[in-house]
Amino acid sequence: MARLKAAVIGSGFIGAAHVEALKRVSGVDVVALVDIMDPQCKAEELDVPNGFADYREMIEMTKPDCIHICTPNNTHKEIAMYAFEHGVNVICEKPMARNAGEAAEMLTAAKASGLIHAVNLHNRFYPANHQLRNMIQDGVLGKIYGVHGGYLQDCFSQKTDFNWRMLSENGGNTRVTSDIGSHWIDLAEYVTGSKVKEVFAEFQTALPVRKINQAGKLKDVQVDTEDTSYVTVRFDNGAVGNAVFSQVYQGSKNQTTIKVSGSEISAEWDSESISELKLGYRNEPNRLLTKDRTLAHPKTAPIISYPGGHVEGFPDAFKQNFIAIYGAIRGIKPTNPYATFEDGLHQMQVIDKMCESAKTGRWIHVD
Ligand SMILES: NC(=O)c1ccc[n+]([C@@H]2O[C@H](COP(=O)([O-])OP(=O)(O)OC[C@H]3O[C@@H](n4cnc5c(N)ncnc54)[C@H](O)[C@@H]3O)[C@@H](O)[C@H]2O)c1
Repeated sequence: MARLKAAVIGSGFIGAAHVEALKRVSGVDVVALVDIMDPQCKAEELDVPNGFADYREMIEMTKPDCIHICTPNNTHKEIAMYAFEHGVNVICEKPMARNAGEAAEMLTAAKASGLIHAVNLHNRFYPANHQLRNMIQDGVLGKIYGVHGGYLQDCFSQKTDFNWRMLSENGGNTRVTSDIGSHWIDLAEYVTGSKVKEVFAEFQTALPVRKINQAGKLKDVQVDTEDTSYVTVRFDNGAVGNAVFSQVYQGSKNQTTIKVSGSEISAEWDSESISELKLGYRNEPNRLLTKDRTLAHPKTAPIISYPGGHVEGFPDAFKQNFIAIYGAIRGIKPTNPYATFEDGLHQMQVIDKMCESAKTGRWIHVD
């Protein structure tokens, strides 16, 4: 098997997670790390041989097979377009872009290049979610009535909490809806196998003025993105969904939940009990299916690396997603699909319509 060269662009929270996960993917070498701040030092910290401040220079010098875009959202389009023009496959962090217009340009460039394009919507690769999708496809839940849940964090619940995400020029028209809601929207569509076709949303900015530290003094900054988003959606299979996405929900660090209501049974997953899929029955005791290769759906078993009882969490979902994507670069069709730029564009269309709904107070159709 020919080895493939990976390069990670952006070495903040998620770039480091990409590097660590890639080091557990067979046949892949992380050859370069790019960051506008201290690239050499960050590369050394993560044990990557080359650090660059400019991704163009990195592509020229190291000729990677695939780049991972792990920078703020306002840079995704520029970097992806450059990579496709230079024959490099792309894995882009979510949200794919700041809006559907940017995402559409990225998809057009990806298709014209004939290269692999993927969005890191890693929740698909938790064994419990993989299992749920396969059970729904097999008809175990029956007709799907509804999907409920959300994504709750408290990382921006204080006035002094501030980073690039707060401002729409960096992150896009929405904050929580695209930053964390994107995970839930993709997960709901992935497990049910249906697409959101209509949306209604209410946005709330709990802390419209935040404080940033400038030379030891706290300065007021006006925020133009939402802290919480309450959404209701209609899926193309007739199911209805609702979810809450918040970054000011005290005490929740990174809690994603999904509850699927079916005519036969229901199913629930909570990222804080990541290995468990709860199955709900009317006429018999409920069941708790824990992650175990011997109990898993035949399509899910291959993405389980460790024996039951050993938790596979956030870094493992990244690993499994990258195994599928690098397999695709080698021409191997994944058993269960990773998110492509087509999925990323659809998601940006849903999110843009949620933003429009929050502004107009109306249900909006997603084209
Ligand atoms: N999949 C997930 O669960 C997940 C989690 C967190 C963040 N993300 C996504 O990852 C992306 C980055 O988020 P983060 O939390 O890691 O941000 P961050 O602020 O922690 O890190 C961003 C890094 O990119 C660098 N950078 C900025 N512009 C650059 C450029 N032009 N070239 C090279 N480096 C540049 C910054 O110096 C910084 O080190 C965002 O799109 C975010 O939505 C995804």
